[in-house]
Amino acid sequence: MTGPRIVLVGPMGVGKTTVGELLAERLGTTFRDTDADIVAAEGREIAEIFVDDGEPHFRELERQAVRAALAEHPGVLALGGGAVLDAGTRELLAEQTVVYLSMDVEEAVKRTGLNAARPLLAVNPRKQWRELMEARRHLYTDTARVVVATDGRTPEEVADAVLDAL
Ligand code: S3P
Repeated sequence: MTGPRIVLVGPMGVGKTTVGELLAERLGTTFRDTDADIVAAEGREIAEIFVDDGEPHFRELERQAVRAALAEHPGVLALGGGAVLDAGTRELLAEQTVVYLSMDVEEAVKRTGLNAARPLLAVNPRKQWRELMEARRHLYTDTARVVVATDGRTPEEVADAVLDAL
C-alpha cells in the first residue's frame, strides 16, 4: 500500500507509535517503526544492544534502519527518540516531511516518570528530562517541518493536529 510519507520524531513516551498508527489508518497507508525494525533484524531488545555494543553502534544500526525504511516504505514512519542525535540520520531526513511531536518536561514526567521499564528516568526524572530536552530540542526543531505539541491531548487529538498542520 502506498500513501503520503510522514516521519515522526520526538522524545520517548511522546506517543510516536500510537499516533503513527492512527495517522496511517486515517491516511489509508501503513505504519513502520524503526525501533521495531532494529529489534527484528538483530533478534534482541534495544536495551541489550545498548549494553552489549554501546550507543554508537546502536545509532549506526538506527541510521541503517532509517535508510532502509525510507527506501522501502512510503507510509508513516516513527523513529526512536534519539535518532536525531546522529548527523547521518538527520541528513537522510533532509527532504522528508518530518513532524516533531513535542511535550514539556512536566508532561514527560507524568507519562514516563514511574515507568519501571525506563530505570534511568526513575532516579530523578524531572532533572533527567530537563537535561534530555535541553540537549535534543534544537535537533528536533531543526529536523522537523512542523512541531505539534502533545501536552494534554489524546492520541486522536494529536493525529488531528498533525493532519491540520501539514
Ligand atoms: C531512545 C529512544 C528509544 C529507543 C532507544 C533510545 C533515546 O525509542 O530508540 O531506547 O535515545 O531517546 P522511543 O522514542 O521509541 O522510546
